[in-house]
Amino acid sequence: MNSTIDILKNHRSIRKFVDRPLEEGMLNEMIFAGQSASTSSFIQSCSVIRVTEPSARNKFVALSGGQKYIESAAEFLVFCADLERNRTRVLTKDVEADFSWAEQGLAATVDVALFAQNVVTAAESMGLGCCYIGGIRNDPDAVVEILNLPALVYPVFGLCIGYPDQDPDIKPRLPTSVVLHQGQYGVNKGSSLEIDTYDAQIKSYYHERTGGKLDIDWSGQMAKQAESQSRPFMLEFLRKQGFFQK
Ligand SMILES: Cc1cc2nc3c(=O)[nH]c(=O)nc-3n(C[C@H](O)[C@H](O)[C@H](O)COP(=O)(O)O)c2cc1C
Repeated sequence: MNSTIDILKNHRSIRKFVDRPLEEGMLNEMIFAGQSASTSSFIQSCSVIRVTEPSARNKFVALSGGQKYIESAAEFLVFCADLERNRTRVLTKDVEADFSWAEQGLAATVDVALFAQNVVTAAESMGLGCCYIGGIRNDPDAVVEILNLPALVYPVFGLCIGYPDQDPDIKPRLPTSVVLHQGQYGVNKGSSLEIDTYDAQIKSYYHERTGGKLDIDWSGQMAKQAESQSRPFMLEFLRKQGFFQK
């Protein structure tokens, strides 16, 4: 339809990178594209930490469960929800500030995601590839320590960026009819039969991608996730950082 939509629809995560730095100015351009995203009530609550030190990258590989592309990507960024900057500025206005509401934590997190996705789209428009790293939340306390994060700042995810050294297939998404509801939940949306068809499609996608090693469909993958504990320490961690108190 147009080149922006083409870039969005051609997205696939890149997990193998050429050993080549980004050109001068590219990173700033991407970050500014991120800053240009909408931001809830203008809070601008995203902080990005660029991790360059090989020893720090190494620590991130380890705490993310051995994801080696964190080391080989030209850039590795950690996106943080940051209400500390706002707290400090509010202090200059002699106001008693409170940043502990769940709504504020949610808004800050949404801001980070919108910012980061703009960065990804900007990167992909320049021929770069990206991979989000939610794996850094395996050990959020370690991330706080490595990056010296104060209270009211928490790491949402990492992002690898670099020139791709692979050309993976696009991963099929659920049929649009299944995710688009009309007027009310469940009205005129696709049937579970369509998800059955999608399951078959994902099964063959994984077969192809892994040379037959991975034999699972989308529903199976979701079932596997749902029966395992999902980072059970997260609420306690977020509260320790000052988020989601009430
Ligand atoms: C917040 C977030 C965290 C993610 N964390 C990881 C990760 O730790 N490691 C990884 O290899 N991929 C990670 N991904 C990538 C997803 O696995 C990927 O986007 C999804 O399977 C769809 O594939 P595609 O991006 O190639 O279309 C993450 C994606 C998001 C949005």
